[in-house]
Amino acid sequence: MQILELELHNFRSYELATIRFEPGVNVLVGPNGVGKTNVVEAVGYVSTLGSHRVAADLPLIRKDCDQAILRATASRGQRNVGLEIAINPGRANRLQVSGSPVRSTDFVSQLQTVIFAPEDLALVKGDPSDRRRFLDEVLVARAPRYHSVKSDYDRVVRQRTTLLRSIAGARGATARAGAESTLAVWDDQLVTHGAALLFGRLSLLNEIDGLVATAYEQVAPGKSASIAYLPRSFADLGEHSTLPRDRNELEELLRKEIEIRRSEEFARGVTVVGPHRDDVLLTIGDLPAKAYASHGECWSMALSLRLASFELMRGLDDIPGDPVLILDDVFAELDTTRRAALSQVAMGAEQTIITAAVIEDIPTELQAQQFFITPGQVDRG
Ligand SMILES: Nc1ncnc2c1ncn2[C@@H]1O[C@H](COP(=O)(O)OP(=O)(O)O)[C@@H](O)[C@H]1O
Ligand SMILES: [Mg+2]
Repeated sequence: MQILELELHNFRSYELATIRFEPGVNVLVGPNGVGKTNVVEAVGYVSTLGSHRVAADLPLIRKDCDQAILRATASRGQRNVGLEIAINPGRANRLQVSGSPVRSTDFVSQLQTVIFAPEDLALVKGDPSDRRRFLDEVLVARAPRYHSVKSDYDRVVRQRTTLLRSIAGARGATARAGAESTLAVWDDQLVTHGAALLFGRLSLLNEIDGLVATAYEQVAPGKSASIAYLPRSFADLGEHSTLPRDRNELEELLRKEIEIRRSEEFARGVTVVGPHRDDVLLTIGDLPAKAYASHGECWSMALSLRLASFELMRGLDDIPGDPVLILDDVFAELDTTRRAALSQVAMGAEQTIITAAVIEDIPTELQAQQFFITPGQVDRG
């Protein structure tokens, strides 16, 4: 898979820019703050409908504009697809694939990417939500239908939480009884969509754990690393020491847990049961990385997670070729072993996009097709 062309309109610092990427390695060079990450962020947005830097869309729109438009041509095997997004903050984005309007589930993963960026340190040291986002992004890349599983689940949690809050604040027995009977409907939805999401995450973990261990060994030989799912919302797993990989059993467990924590939910007015509370446990040696890893080990772990996702996605039958590998300003941070491991993967990938402040930051073998970035402009070297 490759991105052949990218057009940015009023996206971040660009009023209008067109970039024609080449197969193999593409390097974007320019001083700090000139707009390199903005370009790869746009590529990532076309891929996942989200930014690797910010949660909200507003900062993506050029200052004093009301809409940003991204157009891309992706080559998927023998076929080229035209992708277009109008980003409308506060309103739904308008999405098109080859000129026809589509829903987000049919848009995500038309272009497959793996981005490794300094922000990825948060995968190790940041909040559980950072690690959940990583899992769910790979989940969607691996099977795009999880995009709707995830958004259905998020909607249920939001609406159920609103209801719980209204129960907590309800005056009078009748109002409270009414709200509680409505809650049963949301319990069912939470169980169904929650189990679907949990099932997806557990299957993904099962596929990716070996790849993470292998990647870590290459990146930082000497210590072993592992990744495991950390269910936070089950006080009591019963006879299970770990979560079962069966959707019905997961539904049953969630349902039981909701009953157990009912009074807590009423008292707090929040949904405390479900995969929106879970985490991922990353281990280096025998120690949890979040609390113990050194700065260098964090980089190794973050890099290993991205390399593992890249390996996972390139092995999938329904994705033509490799995902586009994007390396945003990371080489200057890496030591020799990690640089060499990353460089080897980048060399072997179908298409790689690298950003760097100066070309000397990048291993010589990767100093290929260069683009020079000046404010608002991208020029072929
Ligand atoms: N919405 C926006 N409108 C205008 N300029 C923006 C917007 N968002 C970011 N910028 C500008 O883009 C620049 C940062 O670009 P970036 O791609 O992160 O730089 P780098 O080349 O270091 O990766 C900053 O100067 C910032 O002010
Ligand atoms: Mg940058």
